[in-house]
Amino acid sequence: KILILDFGAQYTQLIARRIREIGVYCEIWAWDHDPADIAKFAPKGIILSGGPESTTEDGSPRAPQEVFDSGLPILGICYGMQTMAMQLGGLVEGGHHREFGYAEVEIVGDDKLLGALTDHPGRKGLDVWMSHGDRVTQIPDGFSVTGRTESVPIIAMADEARRWYGVQFHPEVTHTKQGETMLRRFVLDICGCQPLWTAANIIEDQIARVRAQVGSDEVILGLSGGVDSSVVAALLHRAIGEQLTCVFVDTGLLRWKEGDQVMAMFAEHMGVKVIRVNAADRYFSALAGVSDPEAKRKIIGNLFVEIFEEESNKLKNARWLAQGTIYPDVIESAGSKTGKAHVIKSHHNVGGLPEHMKLGLVEPLRELFKDEVRRLGVELGLPREMVYRHPFPGPGLGVRILGEVKPEYAELLAQADAIFIEELRKWGWYDKTSQAFAVFLPVKSVGVVGDARAYEWVIALRAVETIDFMTAHWAHLPYEFLDEVSRRIVNELKGISRVVYDISGKPPATIEWE
Ligand code: XMP
Repeated sequence: KILILDFGAQYTQLIARRIREIGVYCEIWAWDHDPADIAKFAPKGIILSGGPESTTEDGSPRAPQEVFDSGLPILGICYGMQTMAMQLGGLVEGGHHREFGYAEVEIVGDDKLLGALTDHPGRKGLDVWMSHGDRVTQIPDGFSVTGRTESVPIIAMADEARRWYGVQFHPEVTHTKQGETMLRRFVLDICGCQPLWTAANIIEDQIARVRAQVGSDEVILGLSGGVDSSVVAALLHRAIGEQLTCVFVDTGLLRWKEGDQVMAMFAEHMGVKVIRVNAADRYFSALAGVSDPEAKRKIIGNLFVEIFEEESNKLKNARWLAQGTIYPDVIESAGSKTGKAHVIKSHHNVGGLPEHMKLGLVEPLRELFKDEVRRLGVELGLPREMVYRHPFPGPGLGVRILGEVKPEYAELLAQADAIFIEELRKWGWYDKTSQAFAVFLPVKSVGVVGDARAYEWVIALRAVETIDFMTAHWAHLPYEFLDEVSRRIVNELKGISRVVYDISGKPPATIEWE
């Protein structure tokens, strides 16, 4: 396994995902994590990530001395290379204007990391992605320069004897074409890791761990229909079978027929014990008269906790609560002690269950990234279509019906959404968009139905392309496609006579409308 010390770069998670894709387990720790833990973790190599700060400033982060005393291979990326140079006796200079984007690196020498790589047969040119302001101007003793560009004489350095490497560019982004090869060389050849981190091994390992953790106790799980909780359900079912009970709360704010699909999939097809709670009436009455989005979110979240608690109180023998917490949630809540890293926050479906429930936590996905969770799902036999579904917000249609939520709106919206999604799949656009859905606008616009004027509701369609959901572009769906969807919605749904397409980017608009 590999340890990644995080200096706060937005790319750090990407480094970890690339290494996992190579089949090697790795963890991300904040750079100021207690260095005494490094020996306990026993990595085979350490990566120092990039970061937003400048090593030339007083008090900027440094790698703990233990890293260099460990005798392990080290790869410093961007800021990681700079702090490595500084700490080992080299020099770093600030104040250059920022280099951002493609650059061509000439490889000099034949070190184990970069030697013999080229993207341009006939010359030693490697296309890489840069994003830095500072640069190393003098390498430490024992190192040699292994790469340079026209404007920067030291872009990569290596000390082969100690197996220490530094690169100013970013091997983890796909723009660096041979980035994967470099990381592969580092973790497999230089560090000597075995590529054993595969979906099948992870499942086997987690099954053993869950069994050891819960013994013969009973476990409950809130199944939402989303990817994470579904994968947990499939995994735990395989690990402990009948000891698992899932509670599925049908809020009336889910996708069209989703409740029935969840029951068909888990209860009927897989034989998982699922208690379905039909709580739509409770949700609609709790939401009646409420139009503020945050108030709606709170009501929906609290009601979930209340219902989940009622159901779990009936399960007298449950000792454990299973949750679909995944690695990005863990990294975010850990962060750096100095609080500089990771300002990015994700939304959470379940806002924490009450402490007095006194249940131990089972979180078999705690170490996994979303793409790994998906691969696990497929390996566990869940349908691809389900595992690769677009995200769906915890409050569901509750925040896609603008203003007050009413059952008749939810019914129309769920159907319009289903038509949109069905057509996206049919036209091959579903996987090309990151998230797509319909929104119910509670305004009446004029329409002509038969010969009469009618005042009917409006449906807005939203489809976005995004990598991280922090920024997004609207999807350029074909006109013919939009035409088909719009016709189907107004023809098939009574009460809708107008369909609009949302062409706003994020920022300034958010992906959801509320
Ligand atoms: P926004 O609207 O903030 O959405 O651009 C970014 C991503 O977060 C999802 N989202 C939520 N998910 N509870 C959730 O579980 C929420 O309250 C919530 N609000 C937005 C949204 O669907 C998108 O994927």
